[in-house]
Amino acid sequence: MRFLLEALAAVSALSATVAAGGASSSGNFSYNRHEFLLDGSPYQIIGGQMDPQRVPPEFWTHRLKMARAMGLNTIFSYLYWNMHEPSPGEWDFQGRNDVAKFFRLAQDEGLKVVLRPGPYICGERDWGGFPAWLSQVPGMAVRQNNGPFLDATKAYIDRLGEELGELQITQGGPILMTQLENEYGSFGKDKEYLAALAAILRDNFDVFLYTNDGGGQSYLEGGQLHGVLAVIDGDSKTGFAARDKYVTDPTSLGPQLNGEYYITWIDQWGSDYPHQQISGSQASIDKAVEDLDWTLAGNYSFSIYMFHGGTNFGFENGGIRDDGPLAAVTTSYDYGAPLDESGRPTDVYFKLREMISKYVPKGSIPDVPSLPQRATIPEFDLKPVVGMFGLQQTPTQEAKDPISMDALGQAYGYVLYEHIVTKDVSGNVTIGDGARDRAMIYVNGVRVGVVDTIYKTPATVKVALKKGDSFQILVENLGRVDVRQRLREQVKGIVGSVAVGCHVLKKWSMYSLPLATLPSNLSAQDQEYKVKANDSPVFYTGSFSLPVGTSSDLSGDTFITVPKGVKGVLWVNGVNMGRYWTVGPQQSLYVPGSVLREQNEVVLLELEPQPGTNISAQGISERQWFNNPDPDAP
Ligand SMILES: *[C@@H]1O[C@H](CO)[C@@H](O)[C@H](O)[C@H]1NC(C)=O
Ligand SMILES: *[C@@H]1O[C@H](CO)[C@@H](O)[C@H](O)[C@H]1NC(C)=O
Ligand SMILES: *[C@@H]1O[C@H](CO)[C@@H](O)[C@H](O)[C@H]1NC(C)=O
Ligand SMILES: *[C@@H]1O[C@H](CO)[C@@H](O)[C@H](O)[C@H]1NC(C)=O
Ligand SMILES: *[C@@H]1O[C@H](CO)[C@@H](O)[C@H](O)[C@H]1NC(C)=O
Repeated sequence: MRFLLEALAAVSALSATVAAGGASSSGNFSYNRHEFLLDGSPYQIIGGQMDPQRVPPEFWTHRLKMARAMGLNTIFSYLYWNMHEPSPGEWDFQGRNDVAKFFRLAQDEGLKVVLRPGPYICGERDWGGFPAWLSQVPGMAVRQNNGPFLDATKAYIDRLGEELGELQITQGGPILMTQLENEYGSFGKDKEYLAALAAILRDNFDVFLYTNDGGGQSYLEGGQLHGVLAVIDGDSKTGFAARDKYVTDPTSLGPQLNGEYYITWIDQWGSDYPHQQISGSQASIDKAVEDLDWTLAGNYSFSIYMFHGGTNFGFENGGIRDDGPLAAVTTSYDYGAPLDESGRPTDVYFKLREMISKYVPKGSIPDVPSLPQRATIPEFDLKPVVGMFGLQQTPTQEAKDPISMDALGQAYGYVLYEHIVTKDVSGNVTIGDGARDRAMIYVNGVRVGVVDTIYKTPATVKVALKKGDSFQILVENLGRVDVRQRLREQVKGIVGSVAVGCHVLKKWSMYSLPLATLPSNLSAQDQEYKVKANDSPVFYTGSFSLPVGTSSDLSGDTFITVPKGVKGVLWVNGVNMGRYWTVGPQQSLYVPGSVLREQNEVVLLELEPQPGTNISAQGISERQWFNNPDPDAP
């Protein structure tokens, strides 16, 4: 039996070698104290970050060509565990998750790849890329030398090894090196954990490992591991000096790489948060060009974070939180990057291209491909068809106290909690240990208030309930915080009991509304739904044709706006394009041409529908970022 298995293994190893050998021959990436070496020759990494899972796969080749045309030679990519393993042992490497395909395409474009697989990646993703189900595993403690965590991590990394092993440079692929953890020094200093994780990675990948930490003493000391190259992020000048000062283990010293040079920063929802960009600001662009020019002139390496940010489609965005309110990251992850969310080059792109061209052989940077204009879609009506609360007649679960979203087995979206009042009671509403994250409160289907963790001062909602009333709380998960690691803080929905005044309400029905797929009977509704004052959320439907002269490619790219929408979610042809919110700064959703057809079905979930107002949408070719007052701010 054993012999047979070994023989089979030998055969499959042989065929893997042949397949890889057919594509290109194996290479060797290494480093000495001052230089990276590709097949023995100095290799300066002129890198930029682009995560395949934030970009429509139909446009991967285009985005990679744009990277080459700016002069980049290497793409840095985070992988999102929560998309690869949506429930334990259920793997997804299709569509946006077909990361092996993305790396092959990168290689076809002459780009090398730096793999940043996590398991923890931060990246302003929901829980830094961790699957939400981790919080429900008994004994789990993430980013620690913890059995359940390392077991789950090993299953994930082993699966990545199967997908990506043959794409390493040692096997003829583009992958140069693999990151160990991510800014671990900002979180802890447990070297046993780092060593255990390094062993799991080394079982699957033979390219060398590196750590990536902020350029300060505690970050570098906490994140460094014996035998693993230490790399910084943030400011290159101070970071490089800090690396050589605080990393004293010679086995972690080598060439200087700024693993994340921040071109700008993320956008968060809120009336007070303008869009982050340096585009249009000459002084800021000059500063970025100067920083990166200095890095290349010193023979150092960098990766621009982000070269191309892309989109947090659906409910994929994360949040950021220290001790104050939650910062909910927008659907757009434009990031003010050189290549904008729709894959178009900005003024920053051209300035960086010009600077990089000084450091590479003349003529080695391809021309910038010309791109079609984005499409304009004339205004079209959306008609209210069905109330969200009427969709699901039977509760997912019933219990004395509310059950959290996560304990219901749900990762994203909404949970509706309902209590039928058994005796008259009035007072302020207390929702568990706080809203997680946005709680909309209804009495007999009429909205009476909103409590949201994004507000600096939490709202107080007072109710007077009568026996027999339906008291409902719709809770929206606005995105798990990317750097908080305590499991309890990552649980969404309601955690704890709900009280009115000092009276704790018992007996709740929970309705799971993940909206992972659209309700099937939406367009079958021939009756128009009559929106009432302060109504519960309503689905609207509408349609539009592919604009003349465009097709399902870059020429169909558009930004859809819903000018009268307050807050909600937009689907085009059944694909969740993400959240919209009047507060801004994002006022339009990037809809890639790749999701469009001749005739396009649009569904909108408006959380705060207004009676007597038609909702319409339109596609604009030039997006605007701005803020509006928040109609729900306390
Ligand atoms: C890779 O290159 C390094 C430095 O040039 C050399 O020491 C090492 O032996 C090479 N490894 C392989 C497998 O060729
Ligand atoms: C960078 O490398 C080149 C070629 O090896 C060398 O001539 C130059 O002096 C180096 N510059 C610095 C700042 O080390
Ligand atoms: C829509 O379908 C769901 C089941 O998919 C059903 O529970 C619900 O009653 C239907 N709603 C309407 C308004 O027909
Ligand atoms: C209810 O909330 C209001 C507004 O925050 C506050 O002024 C009032 O004291 C609260 N009532 C009680 C009984 O806590
Ligand atoms: C809403 O749209 C319908 C159909 O397009 C139209 O007949 C009606 O006048 C509009 N109502 C308002 C308030 O704009």
